Amino acid sequence: MKKPKLVVANWKMHLTIHQASVLVNRLSKTVNPHRGVEVVLAPNYLCLQPLSNEIDRRQFRLAAQDGYFIDEGSFTGAVSFAQLRELVQYSIIGHSERRRYFDESLETVRDKVAAAVRNNIIPILCVGETKEERAQRETKQILHDQIVTALSNLTSEDVSNIVLAYEPIWAIGGSEPAKPDIIEKAVSWIRYQVRELYGKEVEDSVRVLYGGSDEPEFVADIMSIKGIDGLLVGHASLNYEQFADIIMGVHLATLNDSDQADKG
Ligand code: 13P
Repeated sequence: MKKPKLVVANWKMHLTIHQASVLVNRLSKTVNPHRGVEVVLAPNYLCLQPLSNEIDRRQFRLAAQDGYFIDEGSFTGAVSFAQLRELVQYSIIGHSERRRYFDESLETVRDKVAAAVRNNIIPILCVGETKEERAQRETKQILHDQIVTALSNLTSEDVSNIVLAYEPIWAIGGSEPAKPDIIEKAVSWIRYQVRELYGKEVEDSVRVLYGGSDEPEFVADIMSIKGIDGLLVGHASLNYEQFADIIMGVHLATLNDSDQADKG
């Protein structure tokens, strides 16, 4: 069975508990649940508990933005996936901001992915290249290394459940996403890596998202790219009207998909 499309709101280090609650309240009144679209909210750790009591799970699910790779112990300041599992279904892992500002290595990301899976949390593994790496034509190598290392401690069954997000670092936080042909090439390469390592069935089962300046006006174009199953939205997810428009755009894209399938 085809998995639903996925729209993930990465709120990053924005919003207090009160502000997050106000935003969820507005979203819950604006966003209609659609059968083919799963909407996931990723607030900061502090907001997870209160939001888990406020949301209707038919409408929204929760994700962490990170987690520690050891389940329990003397690690002051850390929050483990074993602790998060009561609250979240998903976790963003290996976001470029974590790799860059918190020095997360390929191996740390690998261990976090394994820890999430061990705790029944679906990883949303972020991969992507910098502007310089693209200019040096290193994009394929970078994506290869990020994917192969991150998945190396998983079984094919584990991998078939994960979500990959292509986030070119140079397209994050701007006003325009990467051009569709660039996204298509990268996504096809990402899928090829999964197919080479785990086979076609696993590739077909994995969902691949695009993230980087996703705004409502670009949703139709991005969702029509082959191999794309949804969006990882940053700043536009902090505005309830824009985020609701993005969800609606993804919903409309699923309707187009099923029209095509009916005709095919
Ligand atoms: P923006 O949508 O703000 O570019 O952020 C993208 C992102 O980093 C989502 O994880």
